Amino acid sequence: MVGLGPRKPPSRKGSMADVPKDLLQEIKRLEEMFSVDTAKLKSITEHFVKELTKGLTVEGGSIPMNPTWCMAFPTGYETGTFLALDMGGTNLRVCEIILTDEKSEFDIIQSKYRMPEELKSGSADELWEYIADCLQQFIESHHGTKSLEKLPLGFTFSYPATQDYIDHGVLQRWTKGFDIDGVEGHNVVPMFEAAVAKRGVPIKLTALINDTTGTLIASAYTDTKMKIGCIFGTGCNAAYMEDCGSIPKLAHMNLPPDTPMAINCEWGAFDNEHLVLPRTPYDIIIDKDSPRPGQQAFEKMIAGLYLGELFRLVLVDLHDNKDVHIFEGQNIDKLRRAYTLDSSFLSMVEEDPFENLSETGDLFQNKLGITATHPELELIRRLAELIGTRAARLSSCGVAAIAKKKGYKTCHVGADGSVFNKYPHFKQRGAQALREILDWAPKKSSKEEDPIEILAAEDGSGVGAALIAALTLKRVKEGNMAGILHPENFK
Ligand code: BGC
Repeated sequence: MVGLGPRKPPSRKGSMADVPKDLLQEIKRLEEMFSVDTAKLKSITEHFVKELTKGLTVEGGSIPMNPTWCMAFPTGYETGTFLALDMGGTNLRVCEIILTDEKSEFDIIQSKYRMPEELKSGSADELWEYIADCLQQFIESHHGTKSLEKLPLGFTFSYPATQDYIDHGVLQRWTKGFDIDGVEGHNVVPMFEAAVAKRGVPIKLTALINDTTGTLIASAYTDTKMKIGCIFGTGCNAAYMEDCGSIPKLAHMNLPPDTPMAINCEWGAFDNEHLVLPRTPYDIIIDKDSPRPGQQAFEKMIAGLYLGELFRLVLVDLHDNKDVHIFEGQNIDKLRRAYTLDSSFLSMVEEDPFENLSETGDLFQNKLGITATHPELELIRRLAELIGTRAARLSSCGVAAIAKKKGYKTCHVGADGSVFNKYPHFKQRGAQALREILDWAPKKSSKEEDPIEILAAEDGSGVGAALIAALTLKRVKEGNMAGILHPENFK
């Protein structure tokens, strides 16, 4: 397909002329169900601000607000050689990063390994063995088998973890469809280290990192206006820098109140109590059929893992509804398979540049064996727009809430993840929602920046992880041992 670049979502009103009444009614019903108006965005944001604050208290709330022990922004002058390991949902990435003397400059070499799907519901041993194998392969292919001095490693482990120290993290729960026994409730660092030690891989873990914190720090390395790091990908989350004095659950540590502490919000858990989010019956099914029902209410409405599934559930429901004639008389067995459509399928539907939606028609034919009529294609396109728009608008509530909590009137937000980078119109829809929530005056020209801009981030799990490892080594050398479990690894 040709790259169309950013464009305003086109109105398809004119193309609805041949859509029969039953489908038009359904489109209207879906529009009502999936649209989130300005007033609702504002009330969600208000509640979000309170929940962020609550998560920082001793009693806590549903948003974990995990202190990460990353206690400074980079200056741009960090130096050293670091390894970074990123255990993502689809890939495992290993990098070696050299932070050079030049301001905000670095060299990087990296290898990607596929995360086999079976690992996500396999045993803990299989997971750690696989990770250690990849790390060993990387080191051997770049350094041979000669004995090496242990390299400091930042491990990006992007799941909610309680960190009493930066080199420690007790997995609170798996998210993003992972379901591996024997890890929840345990510190993942010794498990990882044991598998690595067995192979004699020369590393010392100096920081366990969340992808959002990595994104925040990597983005702040080149842009001092960066205040929030976000991931809009398979999962969804954000991190920002808090003052220790505003984190009552750390009061017992007696840290100076103005000391910065990066907080991994784990905002995917926002509204697990279902008080404000406009959940549809389809969101309820997604939750019920997931490995962790009741968890990640916000994430399940906006993250890439779930967008295609939401779309699929709606279409199956419409087909099974005798009053709606959609895909009538066709075999929809392929569409009935859970998680058969991912968010890239939805992206392709939204990107179809043709008035007759012929590319969408081909997609349905080729992937699902369904021949869709033109009116059905119109419904399909509208549904994709509704789901994609809702995701973008809701995610802006989280950004607005952090900005409000911190009193940021202007700042940059670094964002990464497949949905942010690849889903059509996600950025523009998110920016529009921020404008509505924060009551900004209309822009005078398209070149004018918004007061709060969500921008594509620097590589968080590579450069970000290296920077966090470097910042931690630096503060330990200066005698700040707060949140360090194994000082011997920082020599
Ligand atoms: C995880 C977060 C992570 C986010 C984005 C969520 O499911 O709980 O730790 O930052 O996905 O990867």
